[in-house]
Amino acid sequence: MELLLPSPLVEISDERLGDVRLLLKRDDLIHPEVPGNKWRKLKYNLAAAAEQGHDTLLTFGGAYSNHIRATAVAGSIFGFRTVGVIRGEEHLPLNPVLAFATAQGMRLEYVSRTAYRDKPVPPGRFYVLPEGGSNALAVRGCIELAEEITEPYDVLCCPVGTGGTLAGLALGMREGARALGFAVLKGGGFLRDETARLQREYGRENSAWSVQTEFHFGGYARRTPELDAFAADFEDRHGVRLDRVYTGKMLCGLYAMIRRGEFPPGIRIVAVITG
Ligand SMILES: Cc1ncc(COP(=O)(O)O)c(C=O)c1O
Repeated sequence: MELLLPSPLVEISDERLGDVRLLLKRDDLIHPEVPGNKWRKLKYNLAAAAEQGHDTLLTFGGAYSNHIRATAVAGSIFGFRTVGVIRGEEHLPLNPVLAFATAQGMRLEYVSRTAYRDKPVPPGRFYVLPEGGSNALAVRGCIELAEEITEPYDVLCCPVGTGGTLAGLALGMREGARALGFAVLKGGGFLRDETARLQREYGRENSAWSVQTEFHFGGYARRTPELDAFAADFEDRHGVRLDRVYTGKMLCGLYAMIRRGEFPPGIRIVAVITG
């Protein structure tokens, strides 16, 4: 599997930034099918699965989960069978995510929404990846992401879905910097506990990070005309496609904070384009 690593770091020029300098860490370019934080989170988990002699990966997700899709592809590339435990009933024809996962050889098991809460593992021997792929080994991969950045910076930004990426960035970033996560869910305050829990699970904690909960744009996978307009304009200006679920919300929120003067002149911000 050919991976673009280290992923490129590019400064963007945009008059709306004023005296703030913004660099994008283009993790979306790492691999077309296993981009960004998917690769960062899977890397050490795939190694652990192989070391422990597993031949099958099992993970959980909703019917539109990027993590399900990426696990199916990574499994087929690295020679693992894959099982996806999917929340809710089967709907045929399969949507593009599940059709693609099946085409990669993933076996799908549907469980009711209620049963899904307990993340049931069917009988068999599996290397189990949590929903969203966030565990201590995922944190390790995200530490490596931060360590790749050799240019100086003051703030490191990422979107937050489960907290794994932020937990790792905060541990791997340079001395004196702070990490700023943008929660993509409504009521995202619980993600502070999740990020702290994932750092504990990894075995190292710090407090140089925070979660901004204001820019959820209505909730997970919801969008607003403002978000759509921002992302379309950003792509026009900079040729970088932002998804509306994660990276669009992060940058739209970051630009709003810059507009409000929340960052001092001359500050250097790196925003991770996670996928
Ligand atoms: C593109 C993208 N960015 C960010 C995230 C959020 O990362 P985390 O779940 O580690 O908070 C996800 C979801 O896993 C994602 O698919």
